[in-house]
Amino acid sequence: MTESTTIRWEQDADGVVTLTLDDPGQSANTMNAAFRDSLDAIVDRLEAERDSVRGVIVTSAKKTFFAGGDLRDLIRATPETAGDVYAGSLRMKRSLRRLETLGKPVVAAINGAALGGGYEIALACHHRVALDAPGSRIGLPEVTLGLLPGGGGVVRTVRLLGITDALLKVLLQGTQYNPKRALEAGLVHEVAATREEMLAAARAFVDAHPEARQPWDEDGYRIPGGTPAHPKFAANLPAFPANLKKQLNGAPYPAPRNILAAAVEGSQVDFDNAQVIEARYFTELACGRTSKNMIQAFFFDLQAVNSGASRPNGVEPHTVRKVAVLGAGMMGAGIAYSCARAGIEVVLKDVTAEAAERGKAYSAGLLDKAVAKGRTTPAQRDETLARITPTAEAGDLAGCDAVIEAVFENPELKHKVFQEIQDVVGPDALLCSNTSTLPITLLAEGVARPEDFIGLHFFSPVDKMPLVEIIKGERTGDVALARAFDLVRQIRKTPVVVNDNRGFFTSRVIGQFINEGVAMVGEGADPVSVEQAAAQAGYPAKVLSLMDELTLTLPRKIRNETRRAVEEAGGTWTSHPAEAVIDRMVDEFDRPGRSGGAGFYDYEDGRRTRLWPGLREHFAKPDGEVSIPFEDMQERMLFAEALDSVRCLEEGVLTSVADANIGSILGIGFPAWTGGVLQYINGYEGGPQGFVARARELQATYGDRFTPPGLLLEKAERGEPFRDGA
Ligand code: NAI
Repeated sequence: MTESTTIRWEQDADGVVTLTLDDPGQSANTMNAAFRDSLDAIVDRLEAERDSVRGVIVTSAKKTFFAGGDLRDLIRATPETAGDVYAGSLRMKRSLRRLETLGKPVVAAINGAALGGGYEIALACHHRVALDAPGSRIGLPEVTLGLLPGGGGVVRTVRLLGITDALLKVLLQGTQYNPKRALEAGLVHEVAATREEMLAAARAFVDAHPEARQPWDEDGYRIPGGTPAHPKFAANLPAFPANLKKQLNGAPYPAPRNILAAAVEGSQVDFDNAQVIEARYFTELACGRTSKNMIQAFFFDLQAVNSGASRPNGVEPHTVRKVAVLGAGMMGAGIAYSCARAGIEVVLKDVTAEAAERGKAYSAGLLDKAVAKGRTTPAQRDETLARITPTAEAGDLAGCDAVIEAVFENPELKHKVFQEIQDVVGPDALLCSNTSTLPITLLAEGVARPEDFIGLHFFSPVDKMPLVEIIKGERTGDVALARAFDLVRQIRKTPVVVNDNRGFFTSRVIGQFINEGVAMVGEGADPVSVEQAAAQAGYPAKVLSLMDELTLTLPRKIRNETRRAVEEAGGTWTSHPAEAVIDRMVDEFDRPGRSGGAGFYDYEDGRRTRLWPGLREHFAKPDGEVSIPFEDMQERMLFAEALDSVRCLEEGVLTSVADANIGSILGIGFPAWTGGVLQYINGYEGGPQGFVARARELQATYGDRFTPPGLLLEKAERGEPFRDGA
């Protein structure tokens, strides 16, 4: 029997064994090699001392119950190591199976988050009591990393909840529940208010069920709701793949498909065979490209970004107590809400008291919805609303230690509002602008303290969008940058840091995506195929519909201004083929986009009805429709964005690969399966070299905008991926 190193064994006088998960030297327990060894050793001991064991309580000494699979291990899995991955999954399943068939009651006392592997351990227990700890989450979010739960999570949730609920409530969306909602969803049996209560409840279960078994090990057990072999279930089953397809829009996400297959196939065989099926589908995902990309982005890159890799060192952490939000329109109202939600006092200023009140009413609306959905309590709503003070008086901004300006996009107006308030707010208040297009360096010229001036680019709708792009102007100081970073973290959003530039990083790069889609229409491509290509590449919004939302006139205005600036500086402007299409749409056909009632689509009462039939008529080539290979359509959009991101890195607009990847996925909808704009290049078949070869093909066929930039060529030559610190 090997010694357990990460699970502590304590047995009381009544024979109840408490197993405490406690990986030494780690802040959280993960499913690493040491844990697998420990689990085996513990189960060996339980079996050997079975007669003196009355029951088992599994809990943890960490803040979280168990953090899940070790992603450092998983990201190294390749098709060559598939055998080890498969064996590891089976081994884990075997240990948990032995635990649940011990013949003694086993209770999970879930003292904090139990996600992924953590919840799989709990599922192998006969009873689950969750402590109602703040921030505690329960669920199987593997799908969000391109994986499926490979420790019996599919097999057991299907048997616990039935196939439909297991798929929809747990597996396909990766929903993370707080303890109370986990109880409602049937994921846990009890919720306890204190640690003592939790342990007492666990103990009570042990006392009351000396021979506890899992429902699926009882005689005559049937999967709730039936299996696909059951006539009632069969009637619903065909809807699943179709819905899934619709949801995924044909984008290349293998995890949901494998989850569906593992659930349905596994439901038709016995428990042990279902485990084998799950292990096979898990291994395929774990060794594939998509999970690696998604783990890189949503774990490693996101962690680097949020932990402050782009925050200047040596500046004391700063907490904002009172913020001034200037402009209570769509963005200002959303920013005020996010700040108030995070506990910051907000003074929301607009030109009239009524406009400011309307901005506050927006928060009331969101909070009422949150109360109705049980996400917040009426008392929390009232407290949050009480933090927002609407006003039309600059004098009310006294004492604010940060300002976020969100008035109309007009440089003179922005200068004027900062002039009005800069002597009223605190003497070292951080000065931020939420401009989406104006250079930060230029706006900073209008304030007395340009070193404290910075761009904070929020995305709409602010309450839902997790990203904020921080833009450093030429004169922005390190203290302002660090404070802006801290403020974004304080309101629980993810900050990426970029240097000032037209369109910053996000708007500049998304512009490439849109231009490429529009250019294809100009080449006479079928517009339906263009939309479909964007959807199947994994973009959340179709390209022409997105153009309509933004309006065709706005990018045109920005383009003309940029062109003027480039030419005034003695440079030459290279036109993009999309420009001529946009000009014709606006000037010749008067179709400026959705807000103007007509664009690439037709609209009725503001609702999109169909693609404008005139597109075919006016842009088709005289010799008929041009057929661009579908793969080219998709790759033109993806490559246009990835290539421009490399240029951003080359020009110093971006200084971090992680910021580029995270900014592109969270801010502008670059498909998540790629792991972000630069990870897309790393993961492309053949790596950066393969990417360069394909860019050259696109360049030869579609134009010089696909020319690989020097930095990419260097990476390809050295066979080096885009990585921070590399
Ligand atoms: P909006 O038109 O909804 O709101 C602007 C508000 O500013 C109005 O309520 C107006 O009354 C107020 N205002 C005008 N002059 C003022 C003054 N002197 N003092 C105080 N308030 C004044 O505009 P929206 O969409 O909220 O945009 C605001 C800023 O955010 C713009 O710079 C825009 O470029 C930027 N932005 C917009 C995004 C979007 O998706 N709409 C995304 C990111 C940034």
